[in-house]
Amino acid sequence: MATSASTVLRRALLYVPASSPRFMAKTRSLTCDNITYDLEDSVTPSEKEKARSYLANYLASNTKPPSVGELAVRINAVSTPSALGDLTALATSPNLDTIVIPKVNSAADLSFVTDVLRHAAPKRYSNGSDARPFRLIALIESARAVMDLPSICAASPDLKGLIFAAEDFALDLSLTRSPELTEFLYARSAIVTAARAFELESTIDLVCTSYKGESGISRLEEECRSGKGLGFNGKQCIHPSQVDIVQNMFGPGEAEVQWAVRVAVADDKASAEGRGAWTLDGKMIDAPVVGKARVILKRAESCGFDVARVVDKWKNQEPE
Ligand code: COA
Ligand code: MG
Repeated sequence: MATSASTVLRRALLYVPASSPRFMAKTRSLTCDNITYDLEDSVTPSEKEKARSYLANYLASNTKPPSVGELAVRINAVSTPSALGDLTALATSPNLDTIVIPKVNSAADLSFVTDVLRHAAPKRYSNGSDARPFRLIALIESARAVMDLPSICAASPDLKGLIFAAEDFALDLSLTRSPELTEFLYARSAIVTAARAFELESTIDLVCTSYKGESGISRLEEECRSGKGLGFNGKQCIHPSQVDIVQNMFGPGEAEVQWAVRVAVADDKASAEGRGAWTLDGKMIDAPVVGKARVILKRAESCGFDVARVVDKWKNQEPE
């Protein structure tokens, strides 16, 4: 199971309000796994039309920023009159990889988006070599959505990830966000479990709304640890200053890679001796632990980590 986890990197997903030419221009100098130009809640209703046409023109006349892995747009919710216009205005943008869909409440919301995109950009869905279906990422922000996770996850083969949206979820349940985030435990855990069960590659955790100063940084780090601990592999960001911290914390750390290399090197030797279970530092290692180590190494490589250097350092590691 574990070996197929996470292939596309979405450690940080940075929202950029499409109503702000200054923020949009800034993205050209940013290094980030995913940039999501936003037409939804960061844009006031009176600015929606203007932001949509500005964004469509911007995407038509600008290439993908050089150090951005994936370019996405967050459309307005399918339940609003804006969603159809957002999709038809943007579907022909060749540089756009992904559509982020807010307030997904049922499988039908994803079917609607897929149907519109197929009509508006048929070439991307052809059987030819230029086929490049839009990837979809769904925001889970209501009790209804949490209860319907299995049907939402199964709604489209193009669905690649789920995002937990804490503020709208708190509004839906009339609860108040606490620093410990315990009130979101069930929803966050349900999201990562469903994503894993349906083999969706990304699970992206809540926004850290504090972004200024030492206290903002330590809150962000604390939230990253908590999200990673629950099984999320990325986090939404609202400010460029959050991106490096999030990408570092959601990438494997030095100690984690060292451990994974030692396990992998020693396991090759243990397997050759026909030993399925053995010990390292006094702890039992067996197939699921080795699987986890190999996932860490794969992810480390895709994050640009020099795994070969660590393998060389531990080439003499023996199973105990
Ligand atoms: N995307 C791209 N660039 C951004 C940015 C963003 N989300 N937020 C800030 N920047 C840039 C600014 O342009 C500025 O760069 P510049 O001086 O080269 O132009 C630099 O980062 C510092 O910005 P700062 O002055 O600290 O930000 P601000 O006070 O103007 O704005 C926020 C703060 C929170 C209003 C703004 O970051 C924001 O709107 N974030 C996104 C909110 C959002 O999308 N919410 C919905 C999803 S939850
Ligand atoms: Mg929301």
